[in-house]
Amino acid sequence: MDDIVLRGEEISFSYDGCKVLKDCSFIVKHGDFAAVVGSNGAGKSTLLKICLGLLKPDSGKVWLFGKVLDKFEAWEKIGYVPQRILTLNIGFPATVEEVVSAPLYAKKQNKKLSKQERESLIYKSLEQVGMESYRKRLIGRLSAGQQQRIFIAKALVSGPKLLFLDEPTTGIDNETEEDFYNLLNKLNKEDGITIVMVTHDYTDIKSMVSRVIQLNEGGIIDNIRKTEGGDKK
Ligand SMILES: Nc1ncnc2c1ncn2[C@@H]1O[C@H](COP(=O)(O)OP(=O)(O)OP(=O)(O)O)[C@@H](O)[C@H]1O
Ligand SMILES: [Mg+2]
Repeated sequence: MDDIVLRGEEISFSYDGCKVLKDCSFIVKHGDFAAVVGSNGAGKSTLLKICLGLLKPDSGKVWLFGKVLDKFEAWEKIGYVPQRILTLNIGFPATVEEVVSAPLYAKKQNKKLSKQERESLIYKSLEQVGMESYRKRLIGRLSAGQQQRIFIAKALVSGPKLLFLDEPTTGIDNETEEDFYNLLNKLNKEDGITIVMVTHDYTDIKSMVSRVIQLNEGGIIDNIRKTEGGDKK
């Protein structure tokens, strides 16, 4: 069972007494590209936040890399691109490299890095999204799609093994979206990063998805691995 990097068991969650998730169980294995699908309000973002420990379920448990969430400490292995609602204010007082470097200063980050190591990681992650020449720019002065690419670089900077993305291509133009999916595919297939992505574009990316987690009215109706005959749970 070692190849299970994410497991949710019987997760239920309510906001102010209003039930959003009911007994959701699912697994994601090492090397999977999992698409989390379901209609607006189905509970996809909520489920991701529970997996990241940002929300606490009413009942049920999450395991990351075999550790129950409360005991999990290796947060540098996890990257997260939250769902974007608004673009940042034009005056937001941080440069691109400051935004991207934040996870390297997080308390949850275990490794001590030199300035040079940090700079090289920042450069590499910006290069992955084609934004390295924007390092010194103020984030608030970039377009929505450019800001989104910066948030993706931020999620990549600590070299995650498991990447959560919540509708990451919102606001990104078609051509950039294609580049971005190619990047995700490369991270998944060549670098072995496991991906869990909320998406409404499942049909466009079907060929690179190995697992589908489908939410419907708060319950998981499917957690299928498409290849290897499936390990439906
Ligand atoms: N902070 C909150 N407080 C109260 N209710 C919330 C909160 N966040 C979400 N909800 C409700 O929980 C339900 C699930 O929301 P969630 O954001 O997880 O859906 P989603 O599947 O991500 O939808 P979308 O595709 O629109 O992003 C919705 O009915 C929503 O109104
Ligand atoms: Mg959402």
